Amino acid sequence: MLNLCILEIHLKLIKLIMANSVFIYEKIKNFNKKIEVDGDKSLSIRWALMASQAIGRSRAYNILNSEDINNSLISLKKLGIKIKKKNNFCEITSKGLNSFSFKNNTILNAGNSGTFARLIMGVLSNCKNTAIIKGDKSLSDRDFKRVIRPLNLFGVKINSKNNKLPLKLKGTKFLRPIKYYEKKGSAQVKSCIMLAALNTNGETTIKCKKSRDHTEKLFKYLNLPIKIIKKKNFDIIKIFGKKQFKGFDYKIPGDISSASFFIALALLRKNSKILIKNININNTRTGIIDVLRQMNAKIELKNKKIYNGEHIADIVVRSVKKLKAINCPSNMNSRMIDEFLIIFLICAKAKGVSYFRSLEELRNKESDRLKIAINFLKMIGIKVVSNSNNLKIYGKPNLELKKKYVIKNFNKDHRVFMMTCIAALSLGGKWKIYDKDSINSSFPNFLSIIKFLGAKIK
Ligand code: S3P
Repeated sequence: MLNLCILEIHLKLIKLIMANSVFIYEKIKNFNKKIEVDGDKSLSIRWALMASQAIGRSRAYNILNSEDINNSLISLKKLGIKIKKKNNFCEITSKGLNSFSFKNNTILNAGNSGTFARLIMGVLSNCKNTAIIKGDKSLSDRDFKRVIRPLNLFGVKINSKNNKLPLKLKGTKFLRPIKYYEKKGSAQVKSCIMLAALNTNGETTIKCKKSRDHTEKLFKYLNLPIKIIKKKNFDIIKIFGKKQFKGFDYKIPGDISSASFFIALALLRKNSKILIKNININNTRTGIIDVLRQMNAKIELKNKKIYNGEHIADIVVRSVKKLKAINCPSNMNSRMIDEFLIIFLICAKAKGVSYFRSLEELRNKESDRLKIAINFLKMIGIKVVSNSNNLKIYGKPNLELKKKYVIKNFNKDHRVFMMTCIAALSLGGKWKIYDKDSINSSFPNFLSIIKFLGAKIK
């Protein structure tokens, strides 16, 4: 009897594990298709946070429907913000700046989202009650010193073990404006400081290494007092806090980081073409397009328009016969920080040796993406040389895989899962890829779009 029970549990466990993995045994056939990808993650989170500080009603259309966003919305609800999700929009109603109402020690679960966890800390800076921020296993292993340090200067008290989650944050009614130099090129750190500055009387100045500028664009769109001085290698941002703004409607375009997997698939597959509709082509996010064009890729941007201060276009990609290697300067890094894994894969099929430098920030993502990329490339037979945080990839234009590959233990990093699927569909071989549900954090429709393009995935 007991044995039968154990067997049943065993079978159930095996079923569960199987259900959460995919099998790819065949390359994708050539395709010519038009697709849309899910809404932009950075913009979805920023809209929700800014709407939570606006007076009145805000609506977002095409907000990303993923775990990172749902965790953000659930957390905002716990802070007393009214949120309604309808079929084609999400509505937030708030009483304005610093109007959160929550009990001491309210727990906010950011799940896998570094963006939400770090940005909400800036918004909470002016609240006198204590909030506890926690995250999943991957997020609990990431560095929070980068935001703790500037917030401490504002006067915010934060308790944590080793500058990691979970942490306890107690804001103050008496925030002091700061002058801060952000050297990592992290938009999350910059935005956290900007959101704290929004709640602070006086002028906060941030000198920051260049990174995605969605928060700056949103501040400008909302007519908030912000001055930006652009220098060659950094920006200086000045914010005058405590200016109240009204609720606003916002249209969220597709995410270029999600689109990048299909850009790669079209490039790596012979005789294929893809049109990806309505993608955010903010210049601080389009490093992948510039790099791939230098590698010989045919990428066109069509039907350009502007949504709420952000540039949008349809991206058309055609496969090419020969891709060439890239010598990538490190000042491109922040413009393609989430696309490195897929760019490395493309370099594996390019002629020549590709160089990348100063990749240390890749070690601090949902997984250590530099380590994972090196192991992955070696596994598929590509020579890589890495010293400290630089990488050389020796491309093999005729790379074709035949062996069996099992991909697991990647910290459930959504981008590792998706890059691996693209590798399997374009290079061949027989693949079993674990942790399919990792895509739910940023791109739940990934597999259905892949299937729509003709991929056979079990
Ligand atoms: C993001 C910034 C980037 C990026 C992340 C989203 C944002 O992180 O990797 O996926 O929305 O601000 P860093 O700012 O830490 O580089």
